[in-house]
Amino acid sequence: MSDTISKVAVLGAGTMGHGIAQVAAQAGLRVTMRDVSDAVLEKGLAGIRASLEKLVGKGKLDAAARDATLAAIRTTTDLADAVRDADVVVEAIPERMELKLETFRAVDAAAPTHALLGTNTSSLSVTEIAGAVKDASRVVGLHFFNPVPVMELLEIVRGLRTSDATIARARGLAEKLGKKSVVVRDFPGFATSRLGVALGAEAIRMLEQGVASAEDIDTAMKLGYRHPMGPLELTDLVGLDVRLAILDHLHRELGEQFRAPALLRQMVRAGKLGRKTGEGFYKYDK
Ligand code: 3HC
Repeated sequence: MSDTISKVAVLGAGTMGHGIAQVAAQAGLRVTMRDVSDAVLEKGLAGIRASLEKLVGKGKLDAAARDATLAAIRTTTDLADAVRDADVVVEAIPERMELKLETFRAVDAAAPTHALLGTNTSSLSVTEIAGAVKDASRVVGLHFFNPVPVMELLEIVRGLRTSDATIARARGLAEKLGKKSVVVRDFPGFATSRLGVALGAEAIRMLEQGVASAEDIDTAMKLGYRHPMGPLELTDLVGLDVRLAILDHLHRELGEQFRAPALLRQMVRAGKLGRKTGEGFYKYDK
């Protein structure tokens, strides 16, 4: 298996997908970002442009590097075209197993056999996803964090059949992208999602029980524990629907301790999904 990584295909141009595409292009890799429509791709590119402008504004990136990053990103709606010459494929599509399996089957048919196949799933089984591919040893979890250009971690998830060579390549990729990596076993919720939703769910239950206001619960964790954001603010950033899906999955896999708070489910049903819809535990200008 070749160790050279120069071309990356990112499947999905949503919050995570376009963030991953951006950091890969900033690291000097050639990126193809794929999604189902030109409108979604354009929205992803707009997110990348806004993030790069922020970095230029802070003096962390110069105009030439911004332009080179944008020039390194190609978009397409054709999956086979996106992965055809990729050294690494990173899937960042919605968190539905049947969709992941269908996508990995299509990737397996079109990507070069040397390509590392990564999934950005935040809680689904990497081992199960790898079942869609003939050679499951090259499938690995590449779990990034929002906002991708800022967060330092890449959580690498080793499926039951992931090879040592694949883990080594994933670590090399993390380094290339300027991320620190941890390697965890494929177990529901891995390390980060399990701990993250446990804290978030408890904060929501405390709000339901009237222990304190949302602001005070968040302030308690920011000032008392030095978290950069409180658990409710963070749930708004990640998306209430995303967190509910993770909790429901962990509830099925690990039991009662992960039962989703009723308030969370109600808010999702009401379309209060957090920042992306303009309202979650807080209100935002859209
Ligand atoms: N692109 C580029 N730069 C960005 C950015 C972006 N999208 N978002 C923020 N920044 C930069 C800002 O420009 C700023 O730069 P500076 O330090 O040079 O001033 C820096 O990041 C900090 O941003 P802000 O000053 O706007 O605000 P904060 O200091 O509050 O930081 C934050 C914002 C980085 C989001 C911080 O609050 C934080 O780290 N929050 C926790 C985020 C977190 O836990 N993410 C993980 C979520 S779980 C997940 O993603 C997993 C998934 O599977 C669900």
